[in-house]
Order: sequence, then C-alpha cells, then structure tokens
Amino acid sequence: MAEDPKDWQLETRLVRGGMARSNFGEISEALFLTQSFAYESAGAANARFAGDEPGFIYQRFGNPTTQMFEDRLALLEGAEACRATASGMAAVHVALAGLLRAGDHVVSGRALFGSCRWVLAEWLPRCGIQTTFVDATDPAAWRAAVRPNTKVLFVESPANPLLEVTAIGDVAEVARQCGARLVVDNVFATPIFQKPLALGADVVVYSATKHIDGQGRVLGGAILADQKLIDEAYKDLLRHTGPALSPFNAWVLLKGLETLELRVRRQTENAAKIADHVAAHAKVRKVVYCGRSDHPQAGIIANQMSGGGNVLAFDLGSQAAAWRFLDALQIVDISNNLGDAKSMATHPWTTTHRSMPEADRLEIGLTDGWVRMSVGLESAHDLARDVGRALDAA
Ligand SMILES: Cc1ncc(COP(=O)(O)O)c(C=O)c1O
Repeated sequence: MAEDPKDWQLETRLVRGGMARSNFGEISEALFLTQSFAYESAGAANARFAGDEPGFIYQRFGNPTTQMFEDRLALLEGAEACRATASGMAAVHVALAGLLRAGDHVVSGRALFGSCRWVLAEWLPRCGIQTTFVDATDPAAWRAAVRPNTKVLFVESPANPLLEVTAIGDVAEVARQCGARLVVDNVFATPIFQKPLALGADVVVYSATKHIDGQGRVLGGAILADQKLIDEAYKDLLRHTGPALSPFNAWVLLKGLETLELRVRRQTENAAKIADHVAAHAKVRKVVYCGRSDHPQAGIIANQMSGGGNVLAFDLGSQAAAWRFLDALQIVDISNNLGDAKSMATHPWTTTHRSMPEADRLEIGLTDGWVRMSVGLESAHDLARDVGRALDAA
C-alpha cells in the first residue's frame, strides 16, 4: 500500500512532503517558471476554466512549484490547505480581507508588527472595518471587546517586538463563543514550535521570508486553514487581486523547508545561550526570551510552545545606549529581518515600529531603549563575545 504522507514524522514531511515529480524523475523539486499553461483543445480549456477538470491555468491562480510548497507547508502545519502569497504582509492582508466586509469589527492584540498594525488601524477603516486593540494576554479583555458585528480576532504570538505571548486556546474559545474566526500570525513561534490550528485557531499566517527561507533571499507568505475556508474566503480573492508567490521564490522556500527544523533548533540553542549572557550583563535592564523561566507568560509558553525560538529582546534604557550597542557589533548585523542564518539586531523604536503612534508603542511597553535580536547559526561562542563587547560599549 502507498505511504500516506500524513503518517510521516516531521523530518520526513519537511524533506518529502508535497513532492510532485515530473516524468524526468528529478530528485530536487522542479522549478516551473511558466506564467501560463497550454490546453490540448478548446474543450479542455473550457473544462479547466469551468473547474470540471484539474490542472493549472495561470500563475496568478496556481503553479506546480508553488503548489509543492503549499502542500509541504500544509503537511507540516497539519492544515487541510495552504495558499502561498508574495510576502507575509500579503498573507496577513488577504487572511483578514477574505473574512471581512464593510461594517464588520475586528478585535486584535495591541502588540503587533508595525505593518500588521497599519493594516488594522489605518487600512481596514478605509474599507469600513473597525478594530479594537486589546491587551492580548488578558482573555477577559478579548471577551469585553467583542461586539455583535465582530467577525475576526487577530493575534501575533509571540508578538513583535517584545515577545508577548497569548493563550491561543483561550482566545479561540472567545472566537467560538461569538462566532468569529481566530487568525494567528505564527511567525515568531515558527511551524516547528507552535501549532495554532491544533490550539483552536481557524487561520494561520506566516511570513515565509523569515525562518522558512531563513537565508535572506526571498519574500514569501502563506495562509493555512481548512479547505472549505480557503475555498470560500480566499480562493477568489487571491485569484482576482494577484498577491501570488513567484514560483522561483516557492522553489527557494521549498528548499528552505528541507532544513527548517535543523536551523530553527540550532538557532534556538544559540538564542537561549545569548539570552542568558545578555541577562547577566550589568547594562541590561530587562531581557525577554520565550525560553527563559522569567518570561512574563512562561506558564502559557509551557502549554503551547515546544521551544523558545530564536528572537529575544532587551532593554538598554535609552535610544543612545541601544544605538551604541548596535554600532559596536562586529559580527551581528544591524538589520530588521529575523529568522535568518545570520544574526541580526534592530532598534524597533526607530525601525519596525516607527509607524506606530508613540502612545501605542508605550502602551505595549516599547520604549526607545529596546533592542530586538534574531539569533542565527554562527558559533554561540563568537556571538556571545560580539554581544558582550557591544554591551560593554552601550
Ligand atoms: C510578525 C510578522 N508578521 C508579518 C510580517 C511581514 O512579513 P513580510 O516581510 O514577509 O511581508 C513580519 C515581518 O517582519 C512579522 O514580523
């Protein structure tokens, strides 16, 4: 009997999931760099457009390489279906837009990546959709913010940049009770350490730009949910508005998935060492890392995450000190990306979160002394030396 990929362990899913070999028997997944597809006859074209016969039509709707990436990621996530997008923000936007209409209401965690916050606070109101932002760590706050027209609850957990963690199961319960859908941005946790669908979420989104590529090459995103929701909420929106992932990027991301687990686990080992090293330095006021027992939501993390991830944040007290730290780094790059093989650090106040009004930044605890660091695959010994020297200079 043929193997069912759903019986495969994580490692096998990552390397072989979704593989659709062509007649050539290639070992590495084929890159189908084609915009459109030819039909054997006018009748075949008609049947394919009508959905009576399977097959590809046009790259904006689907592509064999992109589908391999989607199928592999769905298998990894334990989702029925996945649709890839050109970036993480395209995934976030489509995931929300597909579930919302003018007059609807959203409840969202208030600690978010700056662009996610912009979509909710600035863009959706132009479409007649209002958002209430809540302290995501307080289930009562979610419940209190729900209105009769609430259709979506949105959360990033851990959140960018201060790694605030939300009890996804509790928020899923609020969504279930009020008939809304829960959308979770799972970028920081990665598909290796957290499974929001299993915790009760309806939709998971990724920036595949981060750990899934993990080597600084391409942008990409993904939306995962059950097949019915993908078909009803997202299929036409994706087809007609065009945020399709390039097949070339899909191919890069497929290769990224093969090594995702190895990279994320090693990065996490390194991050745990760097977090302890940073916490021990006299110039550091506070460290937040999901793998440390002093994380404010350590209890929730123990329930829903199987690893601390590769991102940490620490407070150096002032922008001047944070900038001195960044400017003294010799190995770690100053960059706003995360999940990469190369370690990088950023000053969220003046980069990723600068578009958030100052009062909103302060409300989530983000002051100008915080540094966010994404720990990579370099030697932990070398990283500790680099970070230690930069902290001395801070
Ligand atoms: C939590 C989170 N969601 C979404 C995104 C957007 O991803 P992309 O840059 O691929 O559009 C980011 C990017 O930093 C992020 O940190």
